[in-house]
Amino acid sequence: MSTTDTEKHVSSRGCLKSRRSRIIAGLIVLIVILAAVIPPVVVTTLRKKHNNSMGPKSKVFVPLYVYPAPGAWSPLEDVISTHPDVNFTVVINPGNGPGPNSLPDANYTREIPKLASHANVRLLGYVHTTYAQRNISLVQKDIETYAAWPTNSSNPDLAVRGIFFDETPQAYSAHSLAYLQNMTDLVRGLKGLGSDPFVVHNPGAIPDSRYLSSADSTVVFEETYNTFEARSGANLFTAIPDSNRSQLCAVIHSVPDTVEGSKLRELVKEARKVADELFITHLSINYYASFGNQWSEFVDLMAA
Ligand SMILES: *[C@@H]1O[C@H](CO)[C@@H](O)[C@H](O)[C@H]1NC(C)=O
Ligand SMILES: *[C@@H]1O[C@H](CO)[C@@H](O)[C@H](O)[C@H]1NC(C)=O
Ligand SMILES: *[C@@H]1O[C@H](CO)[C@@H](O)[C@H](O)[C@H]1NC(C)=O
Ligand SMILES: *[C@@H]1O[C@H](CO)[C@@H](O)[C@H](O)[C@H]1NC(C)=O
Ligand SMILES: *[C@@H]1O[C@H](CO)[C@@H](O)[C@H](O)[C@H]1NC(C)=O
Ligand SMILES: *[C@@H]1O[C@H](CO)[C@@H](O)[C@H](O)[C@H]1NC(C)=O
Repeated sequence: MSTTDTEKHVSSRGCLKSRRSRIIAGLIVLIVILAAVIPPVVVTTLRKKHNNSMGPKSKVFVPLYVYPAPGAWSPLEDVISTHPDVNFTVVINPGNGPGPNSLPDANYTREIPKLASHANVRLLGYVHTTYAQRNISLVQKDIETYAAWPTNSSNPDLAVRGIFFDETPQAYSAHSLAYLQNMTDLVRGLKGLGSDPFVVHNPGAIPDSRYLSSADSTVVFEETYNTFEARSGANLFTAIPDSNRSQLCAVIHSVPDTVEGSKLRELVKEARKVADELFITHLSINYYASFGNQWSEFVDLMAA
């Protein structure tokens, strides 16, 4: 292409001159277009930069699968104390559930009351359902074990205020819905789980929406940051029929370390739009077994 142009320039001055005036006319048009386009772009960019509003507040959701060796829960206790305006929903899991005994071990019985004593903390007991296939008597027994903690220990603070049901189904069946609804009814009817027990389901993805009303909150996303971005982030939640953000929980893990500062802020803001309970971690393996290196930054952004 450049060769042809050079030949044309050499072959005829007149042609070159008319090319020049066409170029000048073109430049003028271009400048007029740019003058029309640039100011709105600049204004939009500035507005974005200056929009400090983080939108609706969400609760920090913590799958606390951390063994409470002395000090191990301190990163959580620290942010709970320093962020009294942030609510925390914390899942306790002594042994793939409450464990085989009526009370968990001494490390748990020492640490749980400390967490439970904060006004901005709601503890949930972990119970798995194996996609509503687990023997329902065993599920019931787990729930009743949690509910008996305060009386069995004679310590009202050794208590949870609801149940986190793990491995709930995504596909609808009448049997599964009856199973889950029965367990929710059991939780709400038991003494020992607080005055207003909270029920969370974890299908880990968007389930059939007929399940949503049988829980207070449902984990509709438990995936990596890359998956969150690939599914265009918040937009994926608009596809959940008959739902609203007050019923939704999202867990985003494996966030790259480069997503920090303003990028982390945008991620938290985006997720807060759609989920009332939110956990974000930079850990990419065993992501519930410890706290990621931007844990306190995440909680700061939840307070903003
Ligand atoms: C700023 O962000 C908040 C939260 O996302 C949003 O509700 C609001 O409309 C935004 N304001 C502007 C001017 O873009
Ligand atoms: C936090 O919990 C308190 C007490 O339950 C409640 O009044 C408040 O609205 C909650 N805030 C958020 C952001 O969920
Ligand atoms: C379920 O568990 C209960 C209590 O352990 C037991 O009695 C019952 O036989 C079990 N049911 C099935 C179908 O395994
Ligand atoms: C606690 O549970 C154990 C085992 O079921 C039982 O032996 C004990 O009597 C209970 N203690 C109280 C105070 O309920
Ligand atoms: C749920 O409870 C109802 C009424 O108590 C009972 O008839 C039904 O069998 C239960 N369903 C399951 C799956 O346990
Ligand atoms: C949406 O949230 C509001 C307020 O929490 C609740 O009353 C309503 O039932 C929810 N909508 C659906 C479709 O569940």
